Amino acid sequence: MREQVRVRVPAKVNAQLAVGGARPDGFHDLANVFLAVGLYDEVTVAPGPVGEGPVITCTGPDAAQVPLDATNLAARAALALAARHGLAADVRIHIAKDIPVAGGMAGGSADGAGALLACDTLWGLGTPRDELLAICADLGSDVPFSLLGGAALGTGRGERLTALPVGGTFHWVFAVAEEGLSTPRVFQEFDRLSAGTRIPAPTADPALLAALRDGDAPALAKTLANDLQRAALTLRPSLRRTLDTGTEAGALAALVSGSGPTTAFLTRDAPAAHRVAEALRTSGTCRTARVAASPALGAVVLSDDTAGPGPADAGAERSAVMDGPLPA
Ligand code: C5P
Repeated sequence: MREQVRVRVPAKVNAQLAVGGARPDGFHDLANVFLAVGLYDEVTVAPGPVGEGPVITCTGPDAAQVPLDATNLAARAALALAARHGLAADVRIHIAKDIPVAGGMAGGSADGAGALLACDTLWGLGTPRDELLAICADLGSDVPFSLLGGAALGTGRGERLTALPVGGTFHWVFAVAEEGLSTPRVFQEFDRLSAGTRIPAPTADPALLAALRDGDAPALAKTLANDLQRAALTLRPSLRRTLDTGTEAGALAALVSGSGPTTAFLTRDAPAAHRVAEALRTSGTCRTARVAASPALGAVVLSDDTAGPGPADAGAERSAVMDGPLPA
């Protein structure tokens, strides 16, 4: 058996998040245009003590906020894969966390997808991609996209993916808030704010899909939309100042990322992104600001041999999921 497997997995931003009414199962139907962005967690798995199940460790600026018990999506991914194959999930999982925690950038989902691919490789299972995506969907609505990466339209509760073409690189800034927001709480607030109104079925905006396909940042800026933004701003009114700061510093557009509280700023090019990030950092309206480009690859095995941890881009990269058509 291999000694360890290291997987790199990206954050996401929602270029469009159209939200329908609450469903009987409590989820909401979505038209969710996901873009993977180049901020990454690394998940390393290695055989662990027999009979103990997954043992999680985490490092990084937000590590103290990451649960290390069985509620962590990385642990749940290992357990789900092991159960499917009648194996014991006796595995050490180390998360090198760089994606903001509870930030609306799918950091927890990234760790779930990363651990799944890493365990599949460690245990030599070669689980078909469609099966991995199905396990991801059981773990959470955003987890399949973390595995897939690139750009995709998510329908249903966001887990049914169709890959989208992207014709260029988009440059973003992400302002990280002092404190996270709970996704269920933001959806509840959406329900409260929309009570008594007729909510149309969520659909992807053709103009936004065309802007992505053309790699046209100014056109994408005009179409970015997040139906959860009002709810996130109601729960965290101070985010309005963060959004205004980025816009005043020259961002083409500003919006809340997913359920927030991270705010996302689309810029014309990389130098503009650095200027906006610097303005945000010195504004006192956020904890920090990060620059990242999209699209980014999904979960990728960085090293599946006996080597110890190395630089993020070391080793032969292998994406398990980028080939072939996607399930509808
Ligand atoms: O699927 P996931 O566990 O990530 O969802 C977290 C929570 O976000 C759900 O329990 C639900 O409250 C809310 N949610 C929703 N509709 C979706 C996705 C998530 O209401 N499509």
